[in-house]
Amino acid sequence: MPNYWDDFAPGAGRREPRADAVSDARRLSLNGSWRFRLSPTAAGTGDGFNKVGFDDSAWDTIRVPSHWVLEPVTPLAGGTARSLRGTDEGPLYTNTALPMPLDPPRVPTENPTGDYRLVFDVPEDWGRAVLRFQGVDSCAKVWLNGQELGFSTGSRLPFEFDAPVLPGENVLAVRVHRWSSGTYLEDQDMWWLPGIFRDVELIERPAGAIDDHFVHAGFNHRTGQGTLRVDASTPARVEIPELGISMAAGETATVPVQPWSAESPRLYRGTLTSAGETVELRIGFRTVEISDGVLRVNGRPVFFRGVNRHEHHPDTGRTLDRETMVRDIELMKQHNINAVRTSHYPPHPEFVRLCDEYGLWVVEESDLETHGFIYAGWEGNPPADPRWLPAMLDRTRRMVERDKNSPSVVAWSLANESWIGENFDAVEAWIRERDPSRPLHYERDPSYRNSDFASLMYPSLELLEQIGRREDPRPEEINDEDDARRRSLPFLLCEYAHAMGNGPGSLLDYHRILKAYERFCGGFVWEWIDHGFTHRDAAGREFIMHGSDVDYRPNGGRYCLDGLVFSDRTPSPGLAELKKVLQPVEISVAETIVIRNDHDAVGLEHLGFTWRLELDGVPRGNGVLAVPAVAAGESVTVPCPVDPGDEPGEWWLTVEAELREDTAWAPAGHLVAWSQGALAVRPKQRRAEPLRGPVSAWHQVSSDGGLRLGDAVFDPASGRLLRLGRLELDGPQLDVYRAPTENDRGQGGNNNLAAVWSAVGLDRMQHRTDRIEADGDRLRVAGRSAAATHPHAIEYVFDWTADGPGLRLEVSVDFTGPWADTPYQHRDIVLPRLGLRLGLPGAYEEARWFGRGPGESYADSREAAAVGTYASSLDGLQVGYPVPQENGNHVETRWLELSGAGLPTLKVEGDPVFHFTARRWTSEALERARHPHDLADSGRVWLNVDHAQSGLGSAACGPSLPEQYRLPREATTWSVRFQA
Ligand code: GAL
Repeated sequence: MPNYWDDFAPGAGRREPRADAVSDARRLSLNGSWRFRLSPTAAGTGDGFNKVGFDDSAWDTIRVPSHWVLEPVTPLAGGTARSLRGTDEGPLYTNTALPMPLDPPRVPTENPTGDYRLVFDVPEDWGRAVLRFQGVDSCAKVWLNGQELGFSTGSRLPFEFDAPVLPGENVLAVRVHRWSSGTYLEDQDMWWLPGIFRDVELIERPAGAIDDHFVHAGFNHRTGQGTLRVDASTPARVEIPELGISMAAGETATVPVQPWSAESPRLYRGTLTSAGETVELRIGFRTVEISDGVLRVNGRPVFFRGVNRHEHHPDTGRTLDRETMVRDIELMKQHNINAVRTSHYPPHPEFVRLCDEYGLWVVEESDLETHGFIYAGWEGNPPADPRWLPAMLDRTRRMVERDKNSPSVVAWSLANESWIGENFDAVEAWIRERDPSRPLHYERDPSYRNSDFASLMYPSLELLEQIGRREDPRPEEINDEDDARRRSLPFLLCEYAHAMGNGPGSLLDYHRILKAYERFCGGFVWEWIDHGFTHRDAAGREFIMHGSDVDYRPNGGRYCLDGLVFSDRTPSPGLAELKKVLQPVEISVAETIVIRNDHDAVGLEHLGFTWRLELDGVPRGNGVLAVPAVAAGESVTVPCPVDPGDEPGEWWLTVEAELREDTAWAPAGHLVAWSQGALAVRPKQRRAEPLRGPVSAWHQVSSDGGLRLGDAVFDPASGRLLRLGRLELDGPQLDVYRAPTENDRGQGGNNNLAAVWSAVGLDRMQHRTDRIEADGDRLRVAGRSAAATHPHAIEYVFDWTADGPGLRLEVSVDFTGPWADTPYQHRDIVLPRLGLRLGLPGAYEEARWFGRGPGESYADSREAAAVGTYASSLDGLQVGYPVPQENGNHVETRWLELSGAGLPTLKVEGDPVFHFTARRWTSEALERARHPHDLADSGRVWLNVDHAQSGLGSAACGPSLPEQYRLPREATTWSVRFQA
């Protein structure tokens, strides 16, 4: 007899899968404090633990639902109960690799197993009952009062048993194995988190209860009518009072309705009543169809502004409470996200219910990924092996049956990254038969034979354009017929813009292409949230732990930190950028204002428009902008409400669209969309001011031997600026390096710009001053920056001129030597940055600037940063990425002022603009730090005044940094002005 936990069968003894339903049947939550004991093998604590009288008083107590690897339990080695996180018995993170040998369906003998026990009371008057587990990872066997009920695999899916409960005391015993045959089907890129991690409940099943029901609620956009039929497993009546519907289950009613959409999630509430039970109905009328290669809902094309969402909480893993689910949805809606791909498994059913209520399009994905078989060249891949078909069908059925009544679910995804196999044909056939109302998605099979969408992950911008034009090259694996069909399908970009660390870049570029071709139904950014856990180091300092914080192999390292929100759900700058790019109203501000309603379905009546005029970031007027009604997909033009004045400077007009009224997900006044236009840019003439100080500018300063130019003193040996007025500083040095971002490191060996920078020495440049020439009111310092080992160099000339009370600096650089004489392609030796670094007194505290802000901005991520005048503390300029890396840059800065107690204000002016970062540590320290708490105040402020930085890209997964965002290695001249 094979073991139940590592055989092909997905379960035994379970009831048929059925619809998630809220009903008046009595329900007993069995969540709470259970007894728990961890054992090293599938034998668990042995045979006796499921007996009613078993003495578990010496066992740990554990919260259910939870993952035992995140809760205080006694480790296998013994000792006292504690959290296992950070140890190899705790949460383990792998990306594609399975954490066990590839020998399906068997698993190792070392198979941590948790035995759970709960004693609970059932009221005397209860009848027949069902025991429901909403999710157990990865395999559970269940006994009630010593009687075996059965077992189940399929971690993120519900299963139920008929539960012969006794009046009064009952004993539930559950044995949970960390590894099982199911593990082979659950190789998603995420932490391995065993346990009873979703709710456990007992539900009464009175005679005549409704075991299952199926709502069919379509909308005819031509007639404005909804058609409703509710099928039930037992005779029942459908009542929808608001629609005047009162009919038997199985009958059809057609009535005028408002359709459901993510933008207007209109639900009609009612009941389905049988002799034994009343089930709540929440009907959303909508019809999903694909016609002429375009995905439409209710007759209109739909555009997914989507994210991939894993379930994650930094303390509780995939155990989420309702508040956290609501928080995700609020944050998504507040950031103009309208769609979720439930990567890569069905979420807690409450999340889907919430999507119905709040309005999000959902692509629901089955709990199926067999990625680990890639290490066997896909030999033995479950979709291609008929012995796995029952398990694949089991998972599909449990998903579809559970959520078939949710209007938010508009497509089923068969799996993620499981390559190809004929089992998918059977899975497809089963869904098409059971639920023909929703299209199917599967990305990985290049023929898309089981999918109604063509789909890819992480294409380059060029490839996406080709796809839009239906001109992308045919993959080798498929024939002409499949190729023709594939091109006729709508295209769903199921993952793009890898949001790992600082980034992603190019969100606007992707969005523009996605909007340009009707074949595209939008995309889903990878991914919503960082999967990091709160942890403490030996000194008690809290930090966010990732894979590399556990000594274990195989190990996915930091790759679990790739979300738009940090692990604690703090929005990252990437989310701010996404919000701007996805805004459902396009506004172009110039002599006239063009407003395009980019919603799928609704008008703009819910938004109020205002305008604001600023001169160099200083308010000069504001008002309400009257915008006539605009239907979805239409535009209007309104006259510009104000003229710029004659004064010199930059006149910017900003138009904003805010919610007029409170919604479920944001209060009135919430900013939905905005845009800016420069109405006039009138150059300011600076009066040439005479030099202060000695008129014949140059002389040796007697005491310290410095060179003096106006108010400034330079070191006569290095030519570096030492003093500017009262300000002591360590003058600008050429700087061409940044602490690599995750995207700079590429993926695997690909696109690793950081490795190139290090190979050519950009991370360790040495500077040599070759010439210092003083001439009238000019000082020229010429030198060479180069790295140890290498012959190549950057030759630079700093030309200083006194400029009124300040100094103007013109920098020229040129690149000499055989740069390409490294293992790298010439093209890959782009510069991370080209600029100047200054060391300043540590007492600088505050920054004010005119330019883009308030958040960080980079060449390919700057949409969210509006032109204006901003102020921030220096500490407030830092973005605390959980893995320290370059952050806090500001592009297009016109001027910057730094101030601090007892220090002269340092003003930097661009000619016309520069980038800046300012922090209390150097780029080198930032690069060295493994966690944010490794970053220590150096006692100095390090200010970078840069000509430019390269863009961010999203090469941590996907294409290399696009050419237009690479800072080229070419002769460059730029200038800035300093004044203290
Ligand atoms: C995709 C995969 C995701 C995730 C991502 C990289 O290939 O579907 O689960 O691994 O890459 O973060």
